[in-house]
Amino acid sequence: MMNLFDTHAHLMDEAYDEDREQAQKEAAEELALVINIGCDVPTSVAALDLANKYENFYAGVGIHPEEALKFNPDSLKEIAELAKNPKNVAIGEVGLDYHWDVPKSVQKEAFEAQIALARELKLPLIIHDREAHRDTLDMLSACKAAEVGGVMHAYSGSAEMVREVLDLNFYVAFGGVLTFKNARKTVEAAEKVPLDRLLIETDCPYMTPIPFRGKRNHPKYVRFVAEKLAEVKGVSAEEIAEITYQNGKKLFHID
Ligand code: NI
Repeated sequence: MMNLFDTHAHLMDEAYDEDREQAQKEAAEELALVINIGCDVPTSVAALDLANKYENFYAGVGIHPEEALKFNPDSLKEIAELAKNPKNVAIGEVGLDYHWDVPKSVQKEAFEAQIALARELKLPLIIHDREAHRDTLDMLSACKAAEVGGVMHAYSGSAEMVREVLDLNFYVAFGGVLTFKNARKTVEAAEKVPLDRLLIETDCPYMTPIPFRGKRNHPKYVRFVAEKLAEVKGVSAEEIAEITYQNGKKLFHID
């Protein structure tokens, strides 16, 4: 059996309303480790509750760029408190998303404050970057995010940009998109990431890999990402599972 670590899940999502207990229990049994990620204060609380229920579950807490209008001194204070929970391992997901219409200035203010929080608490960052590659990297650099490092979740940048990400002391995570037939750009990026900086994830309930694309995603499907990544890197799926498991434990300081 493979030692799989899903570094980005949302098992609190309403997509699991009908069989939540079952879906969570199955993930706890089939995966070695799972990090559930919050996108605002309530989902960060839920991610921590889950982490405190299952020994091999951990949490990330933060305010997602799509939720940046909820960012204010009070919500920041709440995230800072939640972040101190022993089962919290990261600040995230945070970042920039220019696909939707939350004002850039609002997103940047939330992002900058949460990078500062990560540095203050010495926690790695889980970064959401959608159609905002240049600004995301510039802010990570300007705000000295390299000090704590982190992961570019669901990497969608170019192969050329990988160098900059590595120089910022960040890991690169791939999910279901890597298995899609039109994923040429993502495959090329994965080729450029050294084994010791790779992570795998599902972003469940979204981004379901082939052969279950279109259905609800679940942490157990991270094995299809491991298999595809193994093919790209020319190693076995077991090796990818073990390497990404060890990388994740190192980045998120899990013993
Ligand atoms: Ni996510």
